[in-house]
Amino acid sequence: MQSIYQLVETQFEAVNTLILQQLHSQIALVEDISQYLATGGGKRVRPLVVLLIASALDDADNPCQVELATAIEFLHTATLLHDDVVDVSSLRRGKPTANANWGNASSVLVGDFVYSRAFQLMVSVGNLKVMQVLSDTTVKIAEGEVQQLAEIGNLALDEPTYFDVIERKTAQLFAGACESAALVAGADTAISEAARDYGKHLGLAFQLVDDYLDYAGDTEALGKNVGDDLAEGKLTLPLIEALRQTRENDAEAHTELSTAIANKDLSKISTIVEIVRACHALDYTREAAKRHAELAASRLEALPSSPLRDALSELCEFVVQRSF
Ligand code: IPE
Ligand code: IPE
Ligand code: MG
Ligand code: MG
Repeated sequence: MQSIYQLVETQFEAVNTLILQQLHSQIALVEDISQYLATGGGKRVRPLVVLLIASALDDADNPCQVELATAIEFLHTATLLHDDVVDVSSLRRGKPTANANWGNASSVLVGDFVYSRAFQLMVSVGNLKVMQVLSDTTVKIAEGEVQQLAEIGNLALDEPTYFDVIERKTAQLFAGACESAALVAGADTAISEAARDYGKHLGLAFQLVDDYLDYAGDTEALGKNVGDDLAEGKLTLPLIEALRQTRENDAEAHTELSTAIANKDLSKISTIVEIVRACHALDYTREAAKRHAELAASRLEALPSSPLRDALSELCEFVVQRSF
C-alpha cells in the first residue's frame, strides 16, 4: 500500500493539508470534533483512488484533483459521523467515536458541517458535471442508509436486496469519486464510464470485505468493534448466506442464528461465527468480494497503461486482502 501512496505523494500531502485547513471553524465544538476526526487517521482510500485516476489521465499539477479528493473524503467522513450514531458504534479508527465522546446531537450536526464543506469544495472544483455526479451520489448514499435501516432485523432479507443496499451506501461514493476524477481530467465518456464502473465494483468489494471482517476480523487491527452488525440486527452477506444454507440443511443451527439475530444477542457471537464459518458463508463473502475486485480491475483496460494504472489494479487486490 505504501508504494501506492508514494506514486501520488505530493498531491496526497496537499489533500492532507487541505483537510486540516478546511475543518477549521470559529465554533469551538465544530473545531474540536473536526480536528479529532482529521487527526484520527483513516485509510483515505477514496482520495487516493481519485488522485490515481486523475493523475493517470491528466497532468498531476491540476489543483482540481486535490480539491475533489478532499471533497470526497469529507463526504465519506460526514457519512461516518451519521453512520456511527445510527449504528450506535463506539469505536472507529481505534478510538472512541465522536458520538461516544460528544453525543449524538453533536455528531449529527458536525456531520452536516463536514457535508457542507464538501459541497463548498465541489463548487471550487468548478465543474457542473462533477457537481451533478456527486449530488446524485449523496442522494443514493442517504437512500442506502435508510434502506438498510428499514431492513434491520428482517430475517428474510435476500442477496439481491443486500447488494442493492451496499451499492447505494458504499459503492456509489467510490463510483462517483472515480467518475469525477476522470471528468476533472477531461476524459471522454468511454473513459469516465469505465472509471465509474471500476469504482462501483471496487466499492462493492470494499463493503463485502468490511462485512466479512465484522465476523472474521480482529478489533485491534480493524479499529472498529467486531460483531457490531450482529449487535445491530443488521443482516449482511455472511448471515444471509448462512441463513439460506441452514434453512435447507440444519434446522438447529438455523434456529440458533435466527434467535441471535432477532435478539441482537452479541453474547452468541462466537457460536454465530462458528456456524457462519462451518457453512462456508465467510468464504462465500470473500469470493464475492474477489469477483467484484476482478471486475473492477478489468475495467482499467480503458485507461492508458502506466504505473498509476498498475497501482489502481493493485488496489483491487489490497481491498480483498485487507484486515483493517
Ligand atoms: C468505512 O470505510 C465505511 C465503509 C464503507 C465500510 P473505511 O474503511 O474507508 O474507513 P476509514 O476512513 O479508513 O476509517
Ligand atoms: C458504511 O456502513 C457505509 C456508510 C457509512 C455510508 P457500515 O455501517 O457498514 O460501516 P462501518 O462498519 O460502520 O464502518
Ligand atoms: Mg456503521
Ligand atoms: Mg451502517
